[in-house]
Amino acid sequence: FPVLAIAALYGYLMGSVPYGLLITKAAGLGDVRNIGSGNIGATNVLRTGRKGLAAATLLADALKGTIAVLVAGRFGQDAALAAGAAALVGHCFPVWLGFKGGKGVATYLGVLAGLYPPGLLVFAVVWLAVAFFSRYSSAAALTAMVLVPPAIWFGPGIALSAEKRAAFEGDHRVAAVMAVMSLLVIAKHHTNIRRLIAGTETKIGSKG
Ligand code: G3P
Repeated sequence: FPVLAIAALYGYLMGSVPYGLLITKAAGLGDVRNIGSGNIGATNVLRTGRKGLAAATLLADALKGTIAVLVAGRFGQDAALAAGAAALVGHCFPVWLGFKGGKGVATYLGVLAGLYPPGLLVFAVVWLAVAFFSRYSSAAALTAMVLVPPAIWFGPGIALSAEKRAAFEGDHRVAAVMAVMSLLVIAKHHTNIRRLIAGTETKIGSKG
């Protein structure tokens, strides 16, 4: 048990570093929370007009999740799952920002990369397809949140014989944890969901 608690604390601290805020501040753009949606994520950093900074935010917010999973993973899959989920919680509720953090899409992606790399492909294809056609970052992310957990659950099993399928049992645990993480990310997008329904959501690249 102490190992899981330490993994969760480590994951939380890794996830709680608000890279979008730090990167835009370092670039002299002030507080990114005062622009666009007020979010600290890559989508909102893009609203500063600085594509490189948005890409750096996406990468840093994702990698902190991947690193948390890979480091904790040295102590077993339970530790990896605990650290990954905690990294997402850390990003969404960072103690340093009064628990008002981001929406978790990039960190979810990074945790997915660490726990189940083939899931990245599913996430990328779904996200890019929805973003391309809708131009809504939020809608793209929300669709990926719904489709990734079942893709992990069923993914390789569909193509395998009954005996070989047994070897993928562990993926069901990953799928279950990712499903809970999806629920958190979806909950964090409640204002986006309301705007999507009202038809007032901001499209990718526009200032909002
Ligand atoms: O996860 C970020 C994206 O889905 C929405 O970001 O800034 O439009 O609320 P934003």
